[in-house]
Amino acid sequence: MKKILVIHGPNLNLLGDRESKFYGTNTLEEINQQIKKLAKELDCKVEFLQSNHEGIIVDVIGASKGKVDVIIINPAAFTHTSVAIRDAVSGVKIPTIEVHLSNIYSREEFRAKSLIAPAVKGQISGFGVNSYLLALRVAVTLIKEK
Ligand code: DQA
Repeated sequence: MKKILVIHGPNLNLLGDRESKFYGTNTLEEINQQIKKLAKELDCKVEFLQSNHEGIIVDVIGASKGKVDVIIINPAAFTHTSVAIRDAVSGVKIPTIEVHLSNIYSREEFRAKSLIAPAVKGQISGFGVNSYLLALRVAVTLIKEK
């Protein structure tokens, strides 16, 4: 079965009451449930990681080589700072989709730069939980095209 790894970066464990103006009111658990429901419909398996630690995210991406078909990642604040996550994504050569709940181009200037973007297949930004659900649909298409 097609296997998709969904990685949530730092502070996304606080969703629900974290800056709901940008991130909505769904908790991370509710978002994961919606992803799981769609995965079932699309006949693929999803695994989740949330971490506030850059090194853990780098380790998990590295360990995914040969085990995962597509990675969906919301690198959160690491989007704008992490050469290590970008290099991990480039290194494993697993098709990766970058997602953001908010539109990172319509906020503070520092958010408009993603260090991860050049290493990924594509990016979906600004659609709340739908950013993840769209990414999952794209992931399944990418696997079929392989
Ligand atoms: C975010 C956008 C980032 O700039 C921010 O640091 C986050 C969440 C988003 O999903 O919109 O934590 O990745």
